[in-house]
Order: sequence, then structure tokens, then C-alpha cells
Amino acid sequence: MEKYKIIGSHPLSGEIKVSGAKNAALKILAASVLSKDTCQINNIPQIEDIKRMTEILESLGAKLLWHDSTLTIDPSGITKSIPDQQLIKKLRSSIVLAGPLLARFGEVTMSHPGGCIIGKRPIDLFLSGFKALGAEIFDHGESFTLKAKKLTGAKIVLPKVSVTVTESLMMTACLAQGTTTIINSAMEPEIPALAQYLNKCGAKITGAGTPQIIIEGVDGLSAGIYELMPDRIEACSFVMMGLATGSKIKVTDCRPEHLETVLAILKNAGADLEIGPDYITTKTSYLRGTEIQTHEYPGFPTDLQAPFTVLMTQANGRSLIHETIFDGRLFYTDKLNAMGADIIMCDPHRVIVSGKTKLNGKKLESPDLRAGMALIIAGLCAEGETTIDNIYQIERGYENIVPRLRAIGAKIEKIKD
Ligand code: EPU
Repeated sequence: MEKYKIIGSHPLSGEIKVSGAKNAALKILAASVLSKDTCQINNIPQIEDIKRMTEILESLGAKLLWHDSTLTIDPSGITKSIPDQQLIKKLRSSIVLAGPLLARFGEVTMSHPGGCIIGKRPIDLFLSGFKALGAEIFDHGESFTLKAKKLTGAKIVLPKVSVTVTESLMMTACLAQGTTTIINSAMEPEIPALAQYLNKCGAKITGAGTPQIIIEGVDGLSAGIYELMPDRIEACSFVMMGLATGSKIKVTDCRPEHLETVLAILKNAGADLEIGPDYITTKTSYLRGTEIQTHEYPGFPTDLQAPFTVLMTQANGRSLIHETIFDGRLFYTDKLNAMGADIIMCDPHRVIVSGKTKLNGKKLESPDLRAGMALIIAGLCAEGETTIDNIYQIERGYENIVPRLRAIGAKIEKIKD
């Protein structure tokens, strides 16, 4: 088993380039099955979640070709719409394939993705959305089948804002007959980017990036070139890493306009940041404890809550962290306490961090992707040696993280047990 070994308390310096956005990439890969034509995706990150999704597409019959960070997908050979259930189980977000496969082939069978460490992760909103578009649902316990001879546009009111539900219904409705309106849709920047691509391919989507999306169904879609946006979560995790370690680092090739709220919160907390059109530079800052609440976009992203909590262990005073989106996303904080942090859990959704505390290196295990990045940041702040196990979770979403962090002076290496 491989682990990361980190020797902390060394300032970082230099430039780190942000990779393409995981959560945009997964959806464009799913969207590729909506058409028979070949699409090309540029700036795609080589991460485990993308590898799992490409394995699923290949198992369906798609032909994939990698050239550096460009992926070409030829879906013309897809002959079946029942993906390998073992592959599906390896990737929670494979659920985003259900809608496009249903729309193109009229039938799909998927495993229930089930809960994960960050929360219960139900799929009720996907299923009720597909049903509203005319799909019949057959539940087989561990898996379910969706069938529809013809999908018909509908008005769908989401009782809860959900990113992947919004994206799934938007993709599916492209090939439904008539008009679909999604009310209370999510507004994350990856959603208008996906809509823009689909529109280039012949879809008729308006309102993506607002709480109401309208989709006029079309008979078919073509395909084209999609330039993946930089990963806003990765970008800001690096910013928080720079601040937490008191370093001057320049995070390049990012889109600060996707991070307005979190950057404003960081500045209010005392962060000295230089923000350019496509870069953010951190400087040594005196940080004050701060209160945050995670929120759907454009609020404070839940995916940055764990790195921010680590940052607040290095801020002076008290911080209240309120995780509102997922019910299991604060349990990594006991690992920070083991390193010397002073964090009190009020309930599963809220913790109080008292800082500034000295952290000490520890043997840790990464519980999930974003908490894993938070543990790397904690390890870089800590005195002594930290080892992090279960690094698959981290490599699900961060491309070549060890060499990239070493290039900015981090003492991190991958070791074998
Ligand atoms: N929800 C339901 N029913 C559903 C679907 C969702 O109750 O059918 C609930 C969820 O349990 C949660 C809330 O709705 O409480 C909102 O979650 P959402 O559905 O928006 O999350 P998601 O679409 O499954 C995406 C990202 C997550 C990110 C969240 C929130 C992808 C592949 N995943 O998940 O990213 O945390 O939006 O922004 O886009 C990550 O990258 O580490 C990650 C977890």
C-alpha cells in the first residue's frame, strides 16, 4: 500500500498550475454518449475518477484516445446501455451516466450508488426527475432500470438544490420531446459550461447558471471540442495551503471569478492575496478566526470546507464552521485534534475551531477526497513527520499531486509500506 510522507513546517514558494476541473470533466464524459459523433475534451485531468469513468465508457463500446491532456471519445460503437455494474460501483458519480444513456437508448440499468463517508447520498431526486420526463423505474434492490420509449418535456421543481441532478436532467431533457423547465436548479459554474457545449452541439438550453433552466428538446445532438475550465476547488485549496503555511505561492491558470465568495471571506479573515485575472498569489498573513456556512454556488463550497477548517487552526481566535450540505463531512476533524488542533464538534454539522494551535505530525488516513487534501495541508503545517494512508481517495481528484507540491518546495513523497 502506498502512502504520502510529509515533513512539515517548511515554507513553500513558487508557482503551481491548476488542472482541469474534475466535476466538469465527469459530466462532459457522461454527455459524450448523447451523440454518435466524436468529441474532444481538452485540459482533462489524469485522476482516478476520470480513469474509472473512461473504463465505464470503454466497457459500453466507446473508443477513447488520450493525447497528453486531450481525450477524444468516439461513442459510435456503443452497442449497449447497461454498463458493467462492478465498474459502476467503483465510481459514485457514475450516476450521471444514467440520464444520457436513458435519453439516447431508451433504457439503462445502474447500481444504486449508496452512501459514502461524507453522507447518505440518496438518488431520489434523480429518479423523480427521470419519472417526470416519462421514464418507468424498476427497482431490483441493488440496482435499478429506467425505461422510456419516448421522453417528454416536463416542469420539474427540485425540492433541494443538487448539482448532479440538475446536470443529469438538463442532459436528459435535451433529447426529450417538448420543453423541460428545471426550477430551483443548481448554479455551479460547471453547469453553464456544460450547457454551452451542448448548445454548440445543437441543444436548446437557456438559463443554465440561474435557478431556472429551460430545455427545448431536439431530435439529436452532434459533438465538438470542449475546453475544460480550471478546477476551482483545487485552485482555492492551493490558496489555503499557501496561507496556512505562511508561504508566498502563485496559483496560476485559475479563474478567480468562480471563487468570489470564498476569496472575500478569506480577505475578511485577514488573508493578504493578490488576485489577477487568472492567478492568485498568497502572502504571509495574520489570520483571524471566522464563521462560515457552506452553501450552494455562489456560496462557500462544501468542497473547500475541510481545507478551510485546517486554515482556521492557524488563525487567531475562534471560528465556527457550519457544514450545511452533507451530514458526514466534519468527522475528519478528530484527526486534526490528534495533531494538536482545538476543535469541538457541536453536532455533526458544526464545529468550533480555536486557534492558533501548533500541529504535530501524525499517522493519518484520508477519509475522503477533500478531507484528504485538508490532511496534506495540515501535514505541511505540522512539525515533524505525517503519513497519510488511503491515498486513492486523494488521487481520485488531484492530478500528480506529489510532484506538483514538491515543485513548490513541499517535503512530500510517496512511500511504500
Ligand atoms: N440529494 C438528495 N437527493 C438526491 C441527490 C442529492 O437528497 O437525489 C442531496 C445530497 O444528499 C446533498 C444535497 O442534495 O445533501 C446536495 O448535494 P448535491 O446533489 O448537489 O451533490 P452531488 O451532485 O452529488 C456534487 C459534486 C460534489 C460536491 C457537491 C456539492 C460532482 C461529481 N460532485 O455532488 O463534489 O460536493 O456537488 O457542491 O459534481 C467532490 O468533488 O469531492 C464532491 C463531493
